[in-house]
Amino acid sequence: MAIHIKTPEETDKMRIAGHLAAEVLEMIAPYVKPGITTNELDQICHDYIITVQQAIPAPLNYHGFPKSICTSVNHQVCHGIPGKRALKPGDIINIDITVIKDGFHGDTSKMFMVGETSVIAKRIIRISHECLRIGIKMVKPGIHLGDIGYAIQRHAESCNTSIVREYCGHGIGLEFHEEPQVLHYGKPGTGIALEPGMIFTIEPMVNAGKRHVKVLPDQWTVITKDRSLSAQWEHTILVTDDGYEVLTQLPGHGI
Ligand code: MF3
Ligand code: CO
Ligand code: CO
Repeated sequence: MAIHIKTPEETDKMRIAGHLAAEVLEMIAPYVKPGITTNELDQICHDYIITVQQAIPAPLNYHGFPKSICTSVNHQVCHGIPGKRALKPGDIINIDITVIKDGFHGDTSKMFMVGETSVIAKRIIRISHECLRIGIKMVKPGIHLGDIGYAIQRHAESCNTSIVREYCGHGIGLEFHEEPQVLHYGKPGTGIALEPGMIFTIEPMVNAGKRHVKVLPDQWTVITKDRSLSAQWEHTILVTDDGYEVLTQLPGHGI
C-alpha cells in the first residue's frame, strides 16, 4: 500500500474534518472539572459531533472500540475507554477526538489538568507538547520521517522522560489509520521523504518513567508498566509546498 497524496479537493475536506475535531476539544474544555465522569465527557462529545457537527465520531465501533472518544487519565497512555470514573483534582487527562466528515478524518488530542496538579504532571504535559511542536516545525518536503522521530526522541530523553514506541502517528484521510507510520523515535535520514499533499498525524506519548507499556484486560487502555504519568498531544498535519499546515488548529489558537 502506497502513501496517498491528497488532491486539492481532498485536502479541503481534510481541513473541514480537522477543524471539526479541533472544535470538539474547544467545546469540551469547560466540562473537564472535578466530579465529571469520563462517560459524561464521552456523551457530551458524542452528541455534539452527531447533532451540531453532523459528523461521525470515528472511534465508535472502530475495531470494536465501544465509545466515541478516548480518555486517558494519569498513567494511562492512550486509548482509554470512557467509563464511570470521576475526575479528581490533580488528575491529568488526554482527550483524543477523531471525527469523520464527508468521508474524511480529522484527529487531534490534548492534555487537560483537573484542578491543581503536581509539578511532575505539569512537566510531563509541557515536555510532550514541546515534542509535538518540535516535530511539527520540521515538516516540509524532503525531510525524512526519521529526522522528525529522532528530534522528538532526543528532546524527551534529554529531559529524562521516555517515548512510547508501540504506538505512533499515522497517515490519515478516507481511512482513520493510513500509511505512513510516523514513529516518535528514530534515526536521521531514515524512513520516507515527505512530499507535498501528504497528511499524517504526529502524536508523541511521553512517560515520566520508563517507556514500557501494557494493555489492560479491557483490550484497549494502554498504561505505563511502571505506573508513571504519561502525556500526549496530537495534531493532523498537511505537508505543503514549503512547509506544513496544521489542519487541527483553530484560527487564533496556538499549536
Ligand atoms: N485517535 C487515536 C489515534 O490518534 C486512535 C484511537 S483508536 C480507538 O490514532 F479505537 F481507540 F478509538
Ligand atoms: Co491519531
Ligand atoms: Co487521535
